[in-house]
Amino acid sequence: MADRVRIFDTTLRDGEQAAGVSFSADEKLQIAKLLERMGVDCIEAGFAAASPADFDAVHQIAREVRGTQIATLCRAVPNDVEQGWAAIRDAEAPRLHVFLSSSDIHIAHQLRKDRESVLQQARAMVAQAKQHVDDVEFSPMDATRSDVDFVRRMLAEVIEAGATTINIPDTVGYAIPDEFEAFIRGILEDVPGADNVIVSVHCHNDLGLSTANSLAAVRAGARQVECTINGLGERAGNASLEETVMSIRTRADHLGVEIGVQPQFLVPASRMVQDFAGMHVQPNKAIVGLNAFRHQSGIHQDGVVKLRETYEIMDPKEVGWTEGSQFVLSKLSGRAGFRSRLEDLGYALESDDFNTAFERFQSLADTKTVVDDRDLEAIVLDRMGQIENAWDLVTISISTGTAETPSASITLRSPDGEECSGSETGSGPVDAIYRTLRAIIGIEDALEEYSVKSITEGLDAQGDVTIRIRVEDVIHTGRAADQDILVASARAYINAINRHVAGKIGAAASITQERRESP
Ligand code: KIV
Ligand code: ZN
Repeated sequence: MADRVRIFDTTLRDGEQAAGVSFSADEKLQIAKLLERMGVDCIEAGFAAASPADFDAVHQIAREVRGTQIATLCRAVPNDVEQGWAAIRDAEAPRLHVFLSSSDIHIAHQLRKDRESVLQQARAMVAQAKQHVDDVEFSPMDATRSDVDFVRRMLAEVIEAGATTINIPDTVGYAIPDEFEAFIRGILEDVPGADNVIVSVHCHNDLGLSTANSLAAVRAGARQVECTINGLGERAGNASLEETVMSIRTRADHLGVEIGVQPQFLVPASRMVQDFAGMHVQPNKAIVGLNAFRHQSGIHQDGVVKLRETYEIMDPKEVGWTEGSQFVLSKLSGRAGFRSRLEDLGYALESDDFNTAFERFQSLADTKTVVDDRDLEAIVLDRMGQIENAWDLVTISISTGTAETPSASITLRSPDGEECSGSETGSGPVDAIYRTLRAIIGIEDALEEYSVKSITEGLDAQGDVTIRIRVEDVIHTGRAADQDILVASARAYINAINRHVAGKIGAAASITQERRESP
């Protein structure tokens, strides 16, 4: 049997470090459940010590998602290791992932330490993690810009202290594939004990080479690849899970390795993460972009009609593309049909969430003849994005036209349950809505992005509004869907404000602060 490459998904940790992305606890749980169904070997559920909200999300996933390893990231400091352990100790297979920089530029300018004290710190923190759990991963941050002999010494030390996986991060996406392959080969050949642990890689995409570098590392003997759905992550992101998985499957002849991920979940997972992150992949994105299996030129169409393989190296059905029209629901559809379609789309809703989503489906089906997958995803998205004890829209009325100044009158229910109303004019109806909401809620924000798109075709389609606002230097994303795009605009703004109110700003700010201090 060929060697197996383990897939370590870090969508919920490095993916959430993408600017403007903040998943709610419910969204994180849904993503984790889908990753588990997909057969991912390890889920990095978050950075538990970053904030109480991150701790709770990691803890909930550790308790509720069985059947896969659950990891949490820890800086190489005692408090992070202890908090990390407290967050994941209930997991079926817990893992602590400790990291510390190894490059001179990080050691001198960020950590303000010297090489010897960093070696000692790495060793001590792996030993501390090891007191709690056998499965300990260590990452020398910025490994690819580090002195090679020093990284190797550091790896030898942490292996001796008990690390069972050594992960080589190309933190700033600097490596070139043949160079990275040689780097990994050198580690496997020359680091004492490396042949007894799993060598992993974690590649960033600053030069667009993250998947290529990950595959080069696999050629050299790496047996774990860290990646994210849609390549989401810090700056230009991480190696994309779907590209890594499909490259290994499609070119098994060349790479000679196997993986355990079920590819039919790739498109549903991509869509779920796009929706929750409020970040859409480009149409020409490999595997999961809208054009990934569309053929435009006559010659290509002719070939595909005669034999699909003439121009397709993968079967779109294998990665989860379905023809939407086969699966439309209508007002005649019952709960069982609704639930079964949601499951195919990767969602596992608990009874309360399911009941609310079903009610929304029924009211949409009353006004829209055909409710397809995108509508269902929008319904779930709306439900998942809801935040308890937050601002809620009670009524909205908008007046606009060629001969009048647009105005909005809105009533909201505050987190304390009080009804508050306001009315403002604006340069357009959306401006009037946002001015009114700002006047009622009283939080200073700057609108960074506003986009509206139609979820499906036809005049009865739902409008999907994504908004990004900056509050106290942190960007929050809000999304909402409604057949009335002005109502969706109001609800998207309220959703973004609620993410701020719910304390997500504290989490995001403290992660930003941690990043300034450490990585
Ligand atoms: O990019 C990086 O170096 C990381 C580590 C924490 C693994 O994300
Ligand atoms: Zn990273």
